[in-house]
Amino acid sequence: MSSTIQNRLQQDSAKIVATLGLDIATARIEVQCLLQQSLKVSRVYLFAHPERSLNEVEYAQYTAWLQRRLCGEPIAYILGEREFFGLHLQLNTHTLIPRPETELLVEQALQIISSNAYSVLDLGTGSGAIALALAHHRPHINIVASDISSAALAVASANAQRLNIQNVNFVQSDWYAELGEQCFDLIVSNPPYIAADDPHLQLGDLRFEPRSALASGADGLQDMRKIITRAHAHLKAPGQLWLEHGYDQAERVRDLFYQAGFTAICSVRDMSGIERITGGTSLLTNSGVECAAIYST
Ligand SMILES: C[S@@+](CC[C@H](N)C(=O)[O-])C[C@H]1O[C@@H](n2cnc3c(N)ncnc32)[C@H](O)[C@@H]1O
Repeated sequence: MSSTIQNRLQQDSAKIVATLGLDIATARIEVQCLLQQSLKVSRVYLFAHPERSLNEVEYAQYTAWLQRRLCGEPIAYILGEREFFGLHLQLNTHTLIPRPETELLVEQALQIISSNAYSVLDLGTGSGAIALALAHHRPHINIVASDISSAALAVASANAQRLNIQNVNFVQSDWYAELGEQCFDLIVSNPPYIAADDPHLQLGDLRFEPRSALASGADGLQDMRKIITRAHAHLKAPGQLWLEHGYDQAERVRDLFYQAGFTAICSVRDMSGIERITGGTSLLTNSGVECAAIYST
Protein backbone atom coordinates (compact mmCIF):
# COMPACT_ATOMS: atom_id res chain seq x y z
CA MET A 1 0.00 0.00 0.00
CA SER A 2 1.30 3.44 -0.97
CA SER A 3 1.80 5.78 1.94
CA THR A 4 2.49 9.19 0.58
CA ILE A 5 0.88 12.24 2.11
CA GLN A 6 -1.35 12.62 -0.93
CA ASN A 7 -2.56 9.01 -0.86
CA ARG A 8 -3.30 9.07 2.82
CA LEU A 9 -5.24 12.31 2.41
CA GLN A 10 -7.34 10.96 -0.44
CA GLN A 11 -8.00 7.44 0.82
CA ASP A 12 -8.38 8.14 4.51
CA SER A 13 -10.59 11.22 4.12
CA ALA A 14 -12.93 9.01 2.10
CA LYS A 15 -12.80 6.34 4.84
CA ILE A 16 -13.72 8.90 7.50
CA VAL A 17 -16.61 10.17 5.37
CA ALA A 18 -17.90 6.64 4.84
CA THR A 19 -17.45 5.51 8.45
CA LEU A 20 -18.32 8.58 10.49
CA GLY A 21 -20.56 10.45 8.05
CA LEU A 22 -18.51 13.66 8.18
CA ASP A 23 -18.40 15.97 5.17
CA ILE A 24 -15.32 15.65 2.99
CA ALA A 25 -13.86 19.05 3.94
CA THR A 26 -13.95 18.20 7.66
CA ALA A 27 -12.58 14.72 6.99
CA ARG A 28 -9.62 16.17 5.05
CA ILE A 29 -8.85 18.58 7.89
CA GLU A 30 -8.87 15.67 10.35
CA VAL A 31 -6.48 13.61 8.20
CA GLN A 32 -4.26 16.67 7.86
CA CYS A 33 -4.18 17.01 11.67
CA LEU A 34 -3.21 13.36 12.09
CA LEU A 35 -0.52 13.64 9.40
CA GLN A 36 0.86 16.87 10.85
CA GLN A 37 1.28 15.29 14.28
CA SER A 38 2.63 11.96 12.98
CA LEU A 39 5.18 13.64 10.73
CA LYS A 40 5.74 16.60 13.09
CA VAL A 41 5.34 19.05 10.22
CA SER A 42 3.23 22.12 9.48
CA ARG A 43 0.02 22.14 7.48
CA VAL A 44 1.82 24.09 4.73
CA TYR A 45 4.40 21.28 4.50
CA LEU A 46 1.62 18.79 3.69
CA PHE A 47 0.57 20.94 0.71
CA ALA A 48 4.15 21.52 -0.42
CA HIS A 49 5.24 17.85 -0.28
CA PRO A 50 2.27 15.66 -1.29
CA GLU A 51 4.65 13.02 -2.71
CA ARG A 52 6.56 12.57 0.59
CA SER A 53 6.32 8.98 1.92
CA LEU A 54 5.67 8.21 5.56
CA ASN A 55 8.50 6.21 7.14
CA GLU A 56 7.75 3.10 9.19
CA VAL A 57 7.51 4.87 12.56
CA GLU A 58 5.39 7.69 11.19
CA TYR A 59 3.10 5.26 9.41
CA ALA A 60 2.62 3.11 12.53
CA GLN A 61 1.71 6.16 14.63
CA TYR A 62 -0.54 7.55 11.93
CA THR A 63 -2.49 4.33 11.37
CA ALA A 64 -2.94 3.77 15.12
CA TRP A 65 -4.46 7.24 15.43
CA LEU A 66 -6.56 6.80 12.29
CA GLN A 67 -8.01 3.54 13.63
CA ARG A 68 -9.03 5.27 16.85
CA ARG A 69 -10.66 8.04 14.82
CA LEU A 70 -12.51 5.51 12.68
CA CYS A 71 -13.89 4.02 15.92
CA GLY A 72 -15.39 7.44 16.65
CA GLU A 73 -12.93 8.83 19.20
CA PRO A 74 -12.73 12.63 18.86
CA ILE A 75 -9.61 13.93 17.16
CA ALA A 76 -9.00 16.33 20.09
CA TYR A 77 -8.72 13.41 22.55
CA ILE A 78 -6.56 11.37 20.17
CA LEU A 79 -4.08 14.22 19.77
CA GLY A 80 -4.64 15.53 23.31
CA GLU A 81 -5.07 19.12 22.20
CA ARG A 82 -7.43 21.69 20.73
CA GLU A 83 -7.00 25.30 19.72
CA PHE A 84 -9.33 27.76 21.45
CA PHE A 85 -9.29 31.52 20.92
CA GLY A 86 -5.74 31.26 19.56
CA LEU A 87 -4.42 29.22 22.51
CA HIS A 88 -3.24 25.63 22.18
CA LEU A 89 -4.89 23.81 25.07
CA GLN A 90 -4.04 20.29 26.16
CA LEU A 91 -6.98 18.04 26.97
CA ASN A 92 -7.93 14.63 28.16
CA THR A 93 -11.15 12.71 28.62
CA HIS A 94 -11.81 14.50 31.94
CA THR A 95 -12.38 17.77 30.10
CA LEU A 96 -14.94 18.93 27.58
CA ILE A 97 -13.47 19.64 24.15
CA PRO A 98 -13.72 23.44 23.88
CA ARG A 99 -16.13 24.49 21.12
CA PRO A 100 -15.94 27.41 18.68
CA GLU A 101 -19.37 28.57 20.00
CA THR A 102 -17.78 29.32 23.36
CA GLU A 103 -15.51 31.91 21.75
CA LEU A 104 -18.57 34.18 21.59
CA LEU A 105 -18.71 34.18 25.39
CA VAL A 106 -15.02 35.14 25.53
CA GLU A 107 -15.58 37.96 23.00
CA GLN A 108 -18.49 39.27 25.06
CA ALA A 109 -16.50 39.12 28.29
CA LEU A 110 -13.55 40.94 26.70
CA GLN A 111 -15.90 43.75 25.67
CA ILE A 112 -17.28 44.01 29.21
CA ILE A 113 -13.96 43.96 31.05
CA SER A 114 -13.16 47.63 31.20
CA SER A 115 -10.21 47.99 33.55
CA ASN A 116 -7.33 46.14 35.14
CA ALA A 117 -9.23 46.23 38.44
CA TYR A 118 -11.81 43.81 37.05
CA SER A 119 -12.32 40.45 38.73
CA VAL A 120 -13.81 37.49 36.90
CA LEU A 121 -15.10 34.08 37.95
CA ASP A 122 -15.23 31.26 35.37
CA LEU A 123 -17.55 28.55 36.69
CA GLY A 124 -16.97 25.03 35.34
CA THR A 125 -13.65 25.85 33.73
CA GLY A 126 -12.91 22.37 32.28
CA SER A 127 -9.64 22.64 30.34
CA GLY A 128 -9.48 26.30 31.42
CA ALA A 129 -10.54 27.48 27.96
CA ILE A 130 -12.57 30.58 28.92
CA ALA A 131 -10.46 31.66 31.91
CA LEU A 132 -7.16 31.23 30.07
CA ALA A 133 -8.37 33.08 26.95
CA LEU A 134 -9.51 36.00 29.14
CA ALA A 135 -6.32 35.92 31.18
CA HIS A 136 -4.16 35.88 28.05
CA HIS A 137 -5.90 38.97 26.66
CA ARG A 138 -6.26 40.77 29.99
CA PRO A 139 -3.10 39.80 31.90
CA HIS A 140 -3.69 42.33 34.70
CA ILE A 141 -7.14 41.28 35.86
CA ASN A 142 -7.78 38.66 38.55
CA ILE A 143 -9.55 35.50 37.51
CA VAL A 144 -10.82 32.61 39.59
CA ALA A 145 -11.58 29.44 37.65
CA SER A 146 -13.50 26.68 39.38
CA ASP A 147 -14.69 23.19 38.60
CA ILE A 148 -16.12 20.32 40.59
CA SER A 149 -13.73 17.91 38.87
CA SER A 150 -10.20 17.73 40.29
CA ALA A 151 -9.08 15.91 37.14
CA ALA A 152 -10.31 18.78 34.94
CA LEU A 153 -8.63 21.32 37.23
CA ALA A 154 -5.33 19.44 36.90
CA VAL A 155 -5.57 19.84 33.11
CA ALA A 156 -6.55 23.52 33.40
CA SER A 157 -3.74 24.44 35.74
CA ALA A 158 -1.20 22.53 33.60
CA ASN A 159 -2.44 24.56 30.61
CA ALA A 160 -1.97 27.78 32.59
CA GLN A 161 1.59 26.79 33.49
CA ARG A 162 2.50 25.78 29.96
CA LEU A 163 1.09 29.03 28.57
CA ASN A 164 2.81 31.00 31.34
CA ILE A 165 -0.49 32.51 32.45
CA GLN A 166 -0.24 33.70 36.03
CA ASN A 167 -3.43 35.61 36.78
CA VAL A 168 -5.79 32.66 37.20
CA ASN A 169 -6.42 30.90 40.52
CA PHE A 170 -7.99 27.47 40.32
CA VAL A 171 -10.47 26.30 42.96
CA GLN A 172 -12.28 22.98 43.28
CA SER A 173 -15.89 23.83 44.04
CA ASP A 174 -19.45 22.69 43.48
CA TRP A 175 -20.48 25.93 41.74
CA TYR A 176 -20.18 28.64 44.43
CA ALA A 177 -19.86 26.30 47.44
CA GLU A 178 -16.15 26.87 48.18
CA LEU A 179 -15.97 30.54 47.21
CA GLY A 180 -16.85 31.91 50.63
CA GLU A 181 -17.86 35.56 50.37
CA GLN A 182 -15.78 36.36 47.30
CA CYS A 183 -17.52 38.76 44.89
CA PHE A 184 -16.66 39.44 41.27
CA ASP A 185 -17.36 42.09 38.64
CA LEU A 186 -18.18 39.41 36.10
CA ILE A 187 -19.16 35.75 36.27
CA VAL A 188 -18.99 33.67 33.10
CA SER A 189 -19.85 30.05 32.57
CA ASN A 190 -20.41 27.43 29.93
CA PRO A 191 -22.28 25.00 32.20
CA PRO A 192 -23.66 21.58 31.28
CA TYR A 193 -26.94 22.28 29.43
CA ILE A 194 -28.11 19.13 27.66
CA ALA A 195 -31.21 17.30 28.89
CA ALA A 196 -30.17 14.01 30.52
CA ASP A 197 -32.26 11.92 28.11
CA ASP A 198 -31.27 13.80 24.95
CA PRO A 199 -30.35 11.15 22.35
CA HIS A 200 -27.51 13.36 21.07
CA LEU A 201 -25.53 12.29 24.15
CA GLN A 202 -25.18 8.88 22.48
CA LEU A 203 -23.82 10.32 19.22
CA GLY A 204 -20.52 11.55 17.80
CA ASP A 205 -17.93 13.23 20.05
CA LEU A 206 -20.43 13.59 22.91
CA ARG A 207 -20.22 9.83 23.61
CA PHE A 208 -16.60 10.27 24.67
CA GLU A 209 -16.91 13.46 26.72
CA PRO A 210 -17.58 13.48 30.49
CA ARG A 211 -21.32 13.22 31.13
CA SER A 212 -20.91 15.60 34.08
CA ALA A 213 -19.73 18.29 31.64
CA LEU A 214 -22.73 17.88 29.35
CA ALA A 215 -25.95 16.76 31.01
CA SER A 216 -27.99 18.85 33.42
CA GLY A 217 -31.22 17.33 34.68
CA ALA A 218 -34.46 16.62 32.85
CA ASP A 219 -34.62 19.94 30.94
CA GLY A 220 -30.89 20.72 30.66
CA LEU A 221 -31.31 23.78 32.90
CA GLN A 222 -30.70 22.33 36.35
CA ASP A 223 -27.17 23.76 36.70
CA MET A 224 -28.10 27.01 34.97
CA ARG A 225 -30.81 27.56 37.64
CA LYS A 226 -28.31 27.08 40.48
CA ILE A 227 -25.78 29.39 38.86
CA ILE A 228 -28.31 32.16 38.14
CA THR A 229 -30.22 32.12 41.41
CA ARG A 230 -27.09 32.12 43.57
CA ALA A 231 -25.09 34.60 41.49
CA HIS A 232 -26.09 37.77 43.37
CA ALA A 233 -24.18 36.59 46.45
CA HIS A 234 -20.96 36.53 44.39
CA LEU A 235 -21.42 39.58 42.19
CA LYS A 236 -20.41 43.10 43.05
CA ALA A 237 -23.18 45.65 42.50
CA PRO A 238 -23.32 46.22 39.64
CA GLY A 239 -21.92 42.99 38.31
CA GLN A 240 -22.71 40.89 35.28
CA LEU A 241 -23.41 37.20 34.73
CA TRP A 242 -23.03 35.73 31.23
CA LEU A 243 -23.82 32.14 30.31
CA GLU A 244 -23.54 29.99 27.22
CA HIS A 245 -26.62 27.84 26.58
CA GLY A 246 -28.22 25.54 24.03
CA TYR A 247 -29.43 26.78 20.65
CA ASP A 248 -33.11 26.63 21.78
CA GLN A 249 -32.73 27.72 25.42
CA ALA A 250 -32.31 31.52 25.17
CA GLU A 251 -35.90 32.41 26.06
CA ARG A 252 -35.99 30.08 29.07
CA VAL A 253 -32.60 31.32 30.27
CA ARG A 254 -33.69 34.97 29.96
CA ASP A 255 -36.70 34.04 32.04
CA LEU A 256 -34.46 32.54 34.75
CA PHE A 257 -32.42 35.77 34.82
CA TYR A 258 -35.64 37.78 35.09
CA GLN A 259 -37.04 35.64 37.90
CA ALA A 260 -33.76 36.00 39.78
CA GLY A 261 -33.98 39.80 39.66
CA PHE A 262 -31.39 40.62 37.02
CA THR A 263 -31.73 43.70 34.83
CA ALA A 264 -30.45 44.56 31.33
CA ILE A 265 -30.99 40.94 30.33
CA CYS A 266 -30.02 40.18 26.77
CA SER A 267 -28.96 37.35 24.47
CA VAL A 268 -26.30 37.56 21.78
CA ARG A 269 -26.48 35.70 18.47
CA ASP A 270 -23.63 33.75 16.94
CA MET A 271 -22.61 34.03 13.29
CA SER A 272 -25.41 31.64 12.29
CA GLY A 273 -27.98 33.93 13.93
CA ILE A 274 -28.55 31.59 16.90
CA GLU A 275 -28.93 33.10 20.38
CA ARG A 276 -25.99 31.38 22.07
CA ILE A 277 -25.22 33.40 25.16
CA THR A 278 -27.35 35.33 27.63
CA GLY A 279 -26.34 37.82 30.28
CA GLY A 280 -27.76 40.21 32.81
CA THR A 281 -26.73 42.75 35.42
CA SER A 282 -27.11 42.34 39.14
CA LEU A 283 -27.88 45.52 41.00
CA LEU A 284 -28.11 43.70 44.30
CA THR A 285 -25.42 43.74 46.93
CA ASN A 286 -24.45 40.35 48.27
CA SER A 287 -26.79 40.94 51.21
CA GLY A 288 -29.69 41.04 48.77
CA VAL A 289 -30.28 44.78 49.26
CA GLU A 290 -30.59 46.85 46.10
CA CYS A 291 -27.60 49.07 45.49
CA ALA A 292 -28.74 52.69 45.81
CA ALA A 293 -25.51 54.06 44.34
CA ILE A 294 -26.49 52.70 40.94
CA TYR A 295 -29.48 54.97 40.76
CA SER A 296 -27.60 58.06 41.84
CA THR A 297 -25.15 57.98 38.91
C1 LIG B 1 -19.73 22.34 29.35
S1 LIG B 1 -18.30 22.04 30.33
C2 LIG B 1 -17.42 23.57 30.05
C3 LIG B 1 -15.92 23.46 30.14
C4 LIG B 1 -15.18 24.73 29.69
N1 LIG B 1 -15.61 25.89 30.45
C5 LIG B 1 -15.40 24.98 28.22
O1 LIG B 1 -16.16 25.88 27.87
O2 LIG B 1 -14.79 24.26 27.40
C6 LIG B 1 -18.97 22.23 31.95
C7 LIG B 1 -17.97 22.14 33.09
O3 LIG B 1 -18.69 22.29 34.30
C8 LIG B 1 -18.16 21.41 35.27
N2 LIG B 1 -19.20 21.15 36.28
C9 LIG B 1 -20.25 20.30 36.20
N3 LIG B 1 -20.97 20.33 37.34
C10 LIG B 1 -20.35 21.23 38.16
C11 LIG B 1 -20.61 21.70 39.48
N4 LIG B 1 -21.65 21.25 40.20
N5 LIG B 1 -19.78 22.63 39.99
C12 LIG B 1 -18.72 23.10 39.27
N6 LIG B 1 -18.41 22.67 38.03
C13 LIG B 1 -19.22 21.75 37.47
C14 LIG B 1 -17.76 20.18 34.49
O4 LIG B 1 -16.80 19.42 35.19
C15 LIG B 1 -17.23 20.82 33.19
O5 LIG B 1 -15.86 21.03 33.25
